[in-house]
Amino acid sequence: MLEGIDGAGTTTQLARLADHLEAQGRRVHRTFEPSTGPIGRLVRSYLKGELTTAPGALALLFAADRLDHVSREIEPALASGQIVLSDRYVGSSFAYQGLASSPAWLRSLNRYARRPDLVLYVRVDADTALARIERRDGDRRELFEHRETLARVVDAYDALYCGPSPEWPAIVIDGSRLPEAVFADIDFAVRSVLSD
Ligand code: TYD
Repeated sequence: MLEGIDGAGTTTQLARLADHLEAQGRRVHRTFEPSTGPIGRLVRSYLKGELTTAPGALALLFAADRLDHVSREIEPALASGQIVLSDRYVGSSFAYQGLASSPAWLRSLNRYARRPDLVLYVRVDADTALARIERRDGDRRELFEHRETLARVVDAYDALYCGPSPEWPAIVIDGSRLPEAVFADIDFAVRSVLSD
C-alpha cells in the first residue's frame, strides 16, 4: 500500500511499480481508495464539494468503502494469486480523518480491515506537494488540498509512521526527489518482501 499526502506522487509511483512488476511476469492488481464502488463514488462527491457532511460521517464512509473495497476487490485478487497495490488504505483515514476524529474511534472503525504486507509512506512537505498540485490542477482544489490542512496531515502521517515503534509499521521514502530516485527506493523495499 502506498500512503502520502495529496501531491506526494503515490499515483505515479504505483503505476510505475505495477508496470515494473508486470514486466517481471508477475500478476498485479492496481487499485486505490476511495474505491470505484458505490460508497467510494459517494465519498468522491464529498471530496469535490458537491455534497457536505459532518467529518465523523465522512470517516464512517471511508471505513465502509474500505471494507467494501477489501471484500469486493482486494480479497478476490489476492485469492487469484495477484499482487495487490493500493494507492491509499487505512493510513489515510488515520492521517486525514485524524484531523477531526479520535485515533481510538478510527482504530475501532478500521479494525476489520486486513493488515497489508507492506506500507510505503512517500513523504513530502506541504509546500512541495502544493506546488505539484498547482502544476497539475491549476486552481481546482479538493477538500483537503490546502496548505494548512496538508501540513497537518504531514504531521499526522509522521506521527503514525516515523516514531520509534509505530503501531502501523511503514517504510518511509523521501518523495521530494526525482521520480527515478523515489522509485529506486520503492523497488528495493518491495523486493525485500517478495519471495523469488
Ligand atoms: P487522491 O488519492 O488524491 O485521489 P485523486 O487524485 O483522485 O483526487 O484523493 C483522495 C482524497 O481522499 C485525499 O485528499 C485523501 C482523502 N482520503 C481520506 O481523507 N481518508 C481516506 O481514508 C482515504 C482513502 C482518502
